[in-house]
Amino acid sequence: MQSKFLLHLLALLLLVSNVWSVSAQDPRADAAYKEGEATFKGQCASCHAVSKQVVGPALAGIQDRRDAAWINNWVKNSQAVVKSGDPYAVELFNKFNKSIMPAFNLSDKQIDNILTYVKVEVENPVAAAPAAAAPAEGGGVSNNMTLFLAIITFILLAVMLVLSRVTGSLNKLVKEKAGQLVPDSYSWMSILFSKKALAFLTLVAFILLGYATVEQAQSLGRQQNYAPVQPIKFSHKIHAGINKIDCQYCHSGASKGKSAVIPGPSLCMNCHKAIKEGPVYGKEEIGKIYAATGWNPDSMKYLNPPQPIEWVRIHNLPDHVYFNHSQHVKAGNVKCQTCHGEVQEMDLLKQHATLGMGWCVNCHRQTEVNFSGNNFYKDYEILHDKLKNDDISKVTVSDIGGLECQKCHY
Ligand code: HEC
Ligand code: HEC
Ligand code: HEC
Ligand code: HEC
Ligand code: HEC
Ligand code: HEC
Repeated sequence: MQSKFLLHLLALLLLVSNVWSVSAQDPRADAAYKEGEATFKGQCASCHAVSKQVVGPALAGIQDRRDAAWINNWVKNSQAVVKSGDPYAVELFNKFNKSIMPAFNLSDKQIDNILTYVKVEVENPVAAAPAAAAPAEGGGVSNNMTLFLAIITFILLAVMLVLSRVTGSLNKLVKEKAGQLVPDSYSWMSILFSKKALAFLTLVAFILLGYATVEQAQSLGRQQNYAPVQPIKFSHKIHAGINKIDCQYCHSGASKGKSAVIPGPSLCMNCHKAIKEGPVYGKEEIGKIYAATGWNPDSMKYLNPPQPIEWVRIHNLPDHVYFNHSQHVKAGNVKCQTCHGEVQEMDLLKQHATLGMGWCVNCHRQTEVNFSGNNFYKDYEILHDKLKNDDISKVTVSDIGGLECQKCHY
């Protein structure tokens, strides 16, 4: 009886370890995948997604549509391929309203890695990441998978151990009933199945389970890297990067109040009455500003009723958190890029930080308050004097109350 059970136990363990090894061969752990992912996210993701059309076509299945040589030529200089008269390229170019894909200085190997990344993504779809955002950190999802398998394994083991104890005791009872004397054995089996071992295993399982739940709960509602497609293909790179327009020319609220403010279409018209064509989309996208303001570019008059542009909101703190831009931008002198990343390089804007509580609190612990020429800190003159007299070496945001709950929570 006991030995038969052992056999079953062994079989189950084998099964579990099989599942385990499958998860160990995670294709996302591959170096080619990782390099491809990095290049793709850095250089292609502003226009391409794997399985949906963004600015350019979805790249899923590209290796079935075109051979490697074609793809390499295309990525290195797509316009050269179009101009060579290649019928596929010409048709594609026309289909995408003659949108020009820039030329990339990438090696064949780098392009090959991108294709590996695309292929793996197609063959191993990720469980719906928050609102089509790319997974925050590579491997996050497969990590969860491993954790999940680990938990299942532990639960299975625990159940098996409990069962084996029960059968063991029953066996003993039956034998004792039959008059046989059964000595208490101190084999490895009895040690493994002892109450202490069981309690220990249960504890481990609970810790793992708790850890997984907390991880899950924390990632809910967080949208790092969230980059929705906007109603107008507005590019921060063209405006704030290439043309060096100041962030606060458009986001004029950032130094005045709580909200940085998204500019209305009439502000766009300051420039776009004159600038009628863009470098990438020609008249199409700028035409949408005219539609929103009711502007007729031919008669140069506002003829139609205006309509709002429905920008998709990207950053969104929960309702119970209070965040104020001017406090950070003006009083704190924090640069936009510290919190929002290199916005002036983004064609499609994405959320750079997690916006989690840990993110706020860590910065408040580390950032020193800048007292010079700042009336905002009148209340803290005592601290300032101590600083001047070298009684203390620095004053961080946390020293002026930046860790008090009610400062950030309603
Ligand atoms: C600025 C936007 C933009 C960027 C960045 C971009 N592409 Fe493109 N891509 C396009 C557009 C638009 C097309 C459609 C053809 C056209 O209009 O030229 C396209 C087409 C393609 C095609 C052909 C797809 C098909 O279905 O045949 C491939 C392959 C491709 N891109 C790969 C890449 C790779 C790899 C990168 C990153 C290294 C990249 N692209 C970066 C805009 C872009
Ligand atoms: C010409 C006007 C203009 C300039 C200049 C500009 N922005 Fe924007 N910004 C916009 C518009 C329009 C949107 C909404 C569309 C979008 O998200 O791309 C936006 C969106 C944003 C968002 C996301 C808002 C959300 O929904 O959460 C951030 C963050 C941002 N801008 C930061 C910056 C920073 C930092 C700079 C300077 C480096 C800058 N912007 C320069 C017009 C501008
Ligand atoms: C200390 C970090 C921090 C700095 C510095 C910062 N932001 Fe923000 N920004 C945020 C957070 C957090 C949100 C989300 C606010 C919310 O959901 O209520 C946000 C939201 C936005 C939005 C969306 C609209 C809004 O106000 O809610 C825009 C636009 C924006 N920021 C632009 C800027 C610009 C431009 C600058 C620089 C002048 C800047 N931010 C500096 C953290 C920062
Ligand atoms: C201070 C001037 C200025 C303001 C304000 C401004 N733009 Fe622009 N915009 C430009 C310039 C410059 C270009 C690039 C023209 C070029 O390179 O040919 C441009 C290009 C564009 C393009 C064309 C992109 C392409 O590649 O085809 C779009 C779309 C656009 N802007 C949208 C907007 C929107 C929406 C707003 C208001 C939120 C806005 N702009 C506000 C100066 C401005
Ligand atoms: C990049 C660093 C940084 C990040 C990230 C950051 N802060 Fe701050 N915060 C500062 C600085 C610097 C000050 C000091 C300016 C001042 O005294 O008001 C400050 C001050 C504050 C204050 C006023 C504290 C006081 O005692 O007057 C509040 C409230 C606040 N931040 C909330 C937030 C919230 C909420 C978040 C996250 C959503 C956040 N901050 C993220 C740097 C940061
Ligand atoms: C510097 C700003 C800041 C301070 C100080 C702060 N919080 Fe938060 N807190 C946040 C932000 C931002 C979130 C939203 C986190 C998210 O959405 O992931 C949050 C979320 C929470 C939540 C919801 C659970 C969660 O993690 O989302 C609780 C509960 C909470 N805070 C309690 C507190 C308590 C208690 C204190 C005082 C000891 C405190 N907070 C101090 C910024 C702050």
